[in-house]
Amino acid sequence: MSVFDQTQPYDALLVQEVSPRDGLQIEPTWVETADKIALIDQLSTFGFSRIEAGSFVSPKAIPALRDGEAVFQQIARDPGVIYVALVPNLKGAERALASRADELNLVMSASQTHNRANMRMSCEASLAAFGDIVRHVHAGDSTHDGAVAKSVTLNASVATAFGCPFEGAIEEDRVIAIVDAYLETGIQGITLADTTGMANPRQVARLVRRTLERLPSNALTLHFHNTRGLGLANVLAAYEAGARRFDAALGGLGGCPFAPGASGNICTEDLVNLCDEMGIPTGIDLARLIALSRTLPALLGHELPSQIAKAGRNADLHPVPGYVRAL
Ligand code: COA
Ligand code: ZN
Repeated sequence: MSVFDQTQPYDALLVQEVSPRDGLQIEPTWVETADKIALIDQLSTFGFSRIEAGSFVSPKAIPALRDGEAVFQQIARDPGVIYVALVPNLKGAERALASRADELNLVMSASQTHNRANMRMSCEASLAAFGDIVRHVHAGDSTHDGAVAKSVTLNASVATAFGCPFEGAIEEDRVIAIVDAYLETGIQGITLADTTGMANPRQVARLVRRTLERLPSNALTLHFHNTRGLGLANVLAAYEAGARRFDAALGGLGGCPFAPGASGNICTEDLVNLCDEMGIPTGIDLARLIALSRTLPALLGHELPSQIAKAGRNADLHPVPGYVRAL
């Protein structure tokens, strides 16, 4: 089915909201735990089925998210929402399980250099750590409640899958080999991440098609950053190639502090607006998203990249000026 085929109803596009994690991890201003919880609790009522609510990484690496435990323990959980936690190692997995994360998102870069910058280890060491995490989760030997741990799902992200700010182009075969290694380890979901917005639509379509030869579309997520303005073009290319799940961040927040030049994720309200205008179902309440996005500058102390929060929807019409009415 083509995105431009007017005769067929569109498949739904699933948006995973990542502003509480990817969005806040790079913010220089400390966001109070209560404000993080309020943000997640509001997002939970907008129609998202998945929210990446934080990470359990070294507090020295990402001080902005050092309150992961408090956030996960105090959010008002909607039973229809999967609350995801990013983890880099077994220690992070143990913390996430103890805090009742529903899904662990393990992250490694396709680029050795970026993995060393971000995770302070080689890709081989990251993969070995992932093996430990999978065994730990499957054994249900969480430190607190084995029954909880058993229902936890595992996703793994390939960061810098479309290019690395240190190494440049990344071989597609290498990305596919990492996907295969993840699947062999027993990980259920895969994310292909364009950490610094280097992907282009043709490249995206190729890599999505190859990845979907290995797993179903409901197990593949695309994670785009809009660093070079190609974010939504890449979404359409990925959708056309069969992808149905996408990460996005409210306001267009986001970025990896260990990737030079990183900037925001694709913006959730811009993505939902695109889908609404094209008739692609998302189940997300755009008006409420926009209203929440407009509160972010006051919380974070700066403007955000979101275009729809500034411009409003097509349907948000302006009053006709008096001089026009007088004509
Ligand atoms: N949560 C909390 N603390 C952790 C931790 C985790 N998941 N993993 C390690 N630590 C602590 C160790 O206990 C140790 O503490 P100490 O200094 O008080 O003894 C310290 O961090 C160093 O541990 P070590 O295993 O040597 O880690 P490192 O310094 O080699 O860093 C990572 C490795 C993976 C922990 C770190 O690079 C990291 O957290 N990276 C994540 C970056 C990130 O989130 N990027 C954006 C998302 S893609
Ligand atoms: Zn990201």
